[in-house]
Amino acid sequence: MLLELTFVFLSLVFILASADLMNKSAPSSSPKEQVEIQGVQLTLSQPHDTQVEWIGQQEILKQILACWLVVNEKDLPLTPRIVGVPGIGKTALGTAAAVARGQQLYIYQCTADTRPEDLLVTPVLADNGRIAYHASPLVTAMIRGGVCVLDEGNRMNEKSWASLAPLLDHRRYVESIVAGISVSAHPNFRCAVTMNQDESTFEIPDYILSRLQPTLTMGFPSIQDELAILQYHLPFCSAEMLEMTVEFLQKAHTLKLDFSTRDGINLLRYAIKRMAQDTDHPLSADVAWQEALSQCLGSEAMDLDRMAKSRSQSLGGQTLPMGFADFFFNPNDPLRPGAEYELDEDEDDEDEVDFSEDEFDEDDFDEDLDDMSEFDGNDPDSKG
Ligand SMILES: Nc1ncnc2c1ncn2[C@@H]1O[C@H](COP(=O)(O)OP(=O)(O)O)[C@@H](O)[C@H]1O
Ligand SMILES: [Mg+2]
Repeated sequence: MLLELTFVFLSLVFILASADLMNKSAPSSSPKEQVEIQGVQLTLSQPHDTQVEWIGQQEILKQILACWLVVNEKDLPLTPRIVGVPGIGKTALGTAAAVARGQQLYIYQCTADTRPEDLLVTPVLADNGRIAYHASPLVTAMIRGGVCVLDEGNRMNEKSWASLAPLLDHRRYVESIVAGISVSAHPNFRCAVTMNQDESTFEIPDYILSRLQPTLTMGFPSIQDELAILQYHLPFCSAEMLEMTVEFLQKAHTLKLDFSTRDGINLLRYAIKRMAQDTDHPLSADVAWQEALSQCLGSEAMDLDRMAKSRSQSLGGQTLPMGFADFFFNPNDPLRPGAEYELDEDEDDEDEVDFSEDEFDEDDFDEDLDDMSEFDGNDPDSKG
């Protein structure tokens, strides 16, 4: 009996000792930094460590960097709005600009149900049963003097935007109701907001939009830049497949179809994986590419001309054929010839389109499409 008790006791000691040892030797996933603000202990977020090289489109990179310059002690940085279709490189631009300035980057993904406390400070239940306060990536960037990209800002509701109003003007602070503190932005804090040009979930109120200026509109990259971007992200991809993809994307851009650089990267990744899968009977590049195209972007992407035409018809001609005006004017420019036929604010709302059929000449449109198909990538000269 005594022997048994001793054995149980020793086993217990052993278990406790090894548990203690495990605790001590467990790799402490870099202890989270804490700061004290107005008597409240805040646990900070971790910066983003993805580095992306920005390829081509130097002008827009210079524009965002100009927004973040401070030229005089009375000057303040601006918070620009980066707009463009999904996958065109908005987040990459913000990332590249933070890297160019040598600052830490924090990305906050905005969603429809982002609450003000998620954006600022979140209370969490700590091990000791007490409340601990976690600073969001935005507030961490404000405290550490980093860059924060508020990603896909037009997904966020007005209440959350309202909590940022004092941050986005000369006051440069936020108030966390939950933690009962106000946090002032470090002089090096910089911010940019990305917004997708698709159906936005919420209309952002004007008093917020007026604090998010200027608007930097991203256009599709040129053929050389798009090839370089694909090559940079997929250095293991064959020249043949890169070229097929760039030709496809450039034609889609010309036809104003929203296939993006990201779509190109994804379809190539998938095609390459399909080819690598069966080493005995590998799929040909062409078959794998076509399969990836239809599975990533939908079978309608196999015929871009037809897709452009049916898009245009389903929008009742809202999408005008490419003309000279498209080369010289921004689509939203009120000075663009024919601008009076297009809707500005309700562009996304198909139901409210008031565009009478007879203003769209289908024959003209067909002619335009024929003209464009000269750029359709079947041009042997465009194959390097
Ligand atoms: N100019 C560029 N240089 C390098 N990579 C780019 C560039 N433009 C787009 N990309 C790449 O394309 C993909 C989509 O870009 P992303 O910034 O995520 O798009 P968005 O935020 O507009 O949806 C990413 O992999 C990004 O790195
Ligand atoms: Mg993005």
